[in-house]
Amino acid sequence: MELSEYFKLVQERVNNCLKEKLKSLPSEPSELKEAMEYALLLGGKRARPLLVYATGSAFGGSKRNLDYVAAAIECIHAYSLIHDDMPEMDNDMLRRGHPTVHAKYGSATALLAGDTLQALAFDLLTDANCHLSLDVKGRMCACLAKASGFEGMCGGQALDLKAEHQHLPQEQLEKLHSLKTGALITCAVQLGFMASRYQEAYENQQTDAIANAMGLVENPHMSRDFKCLSDYGKKVGLAFQVWDDVLDVAGDSAVLGKTVGSDESLQKSTYVSLLGLEEAKSYAQKLALEAQECLKPISADTSILKQFAQFTVSRDH
Ligand code: IPE
Ligand code: IPE
Ligand code: MG
Ligand code: MG
Ligand code: MG
Repeated sequence: MELSEYFKLVQERVNNCLKEKLKSLPSEPSELKEAMEYALLLGGKRARPLLVYATGSAFGGSKRNLDYVAAAIECIHAYSLIHDDMPEMDNDMLRRGHPTVHAKYGSATALLAGDTLQALAFDLLTDANCHLSLDVKGRMCACLAKASGFEGMCGGQALDLKAEHQHLPQEQLEKLHSLKTGALITCAVQLGFMASRYQEAYENQQTDAIANAMGLVENPHMSRDFKCLSDYGKKVGLAFQVWDDVLDVAGDSAVLGKTVGSDESLQKSTYVSLLGLEEAKSYAQKLALEAQECLKPISADTSILKQFAQFTVSRDH
């Protein structure tokens, strides 16, 4: 299947799951709920959900289970964007072609909408209608918590703020980008695998099988796929943020839905500021090829993941 077609399917499925979850919440406090809906449903490529479905489907996962996982990771992503745009961080007024959440609802509601979406992610991952064992769900929660917290997205965001007005060497910039963006992208692939490869554990509570999935138990075959997918996630996640830096310079605001030039005005440490525009592009493309290489030992159908790597470094938004 073509990637563009797959994106459409993913968008429809994850949007339905998110709408359903929001509908199940009480209507008050209404402004908080409105701000959450605004942040979740007004556009977005759904790149992380795509990775969940593409990986999960390759390993025989049920789409219905993957819906909750995809929706959960999108909630974390949406929360990270709300907070990222706030005046205390990047102070951006445009997101997905619309005013940012704080610009529309004020900082207090934006802060709370981000907090609530973070909690909603774990609510979705443990939803009773997601038919995975509590053990798998627990491991998925741990994986998402790590990827979004101190050793992942939030830690990376802190490094990003600290690096303003500085010229970081490449090694440190790689760490920053891998944490702020790469960790959640890697997690999307890992969760897709965990939710699929071990869905049968729902019936018989095979905890060993789940430990195998994560390479916690000696089993070369199972841990190999997990390792290859994780390596793919790291490469493609870094490429994704390098290309985001490229778009901040070379993109078109109308297509991108964000203000171009935001990084330069804040004197952010980016791959463009480090390497220049053309070299940053080539580096991202090199990473995407390396990501594709990581998929080679996997016998499952990874054609969507392969196409996604290429998309990451050729996209215009
Ligand atoms: C933007 O992410 C922020 C980064 C982590 C690079 P996306 O490019 O996935 O944004 P949306 O969800 O499509 O708006
Ligand atoms: C964002 O990086 C990373 C997040 C964790 C949200 P950027 O600050 O470059 O993302 P954009 O360009 O505002 O989307
Ligand atoms: Mg930022
Ligand atoms: Mg930003
Ligand atoms: Mg950016």
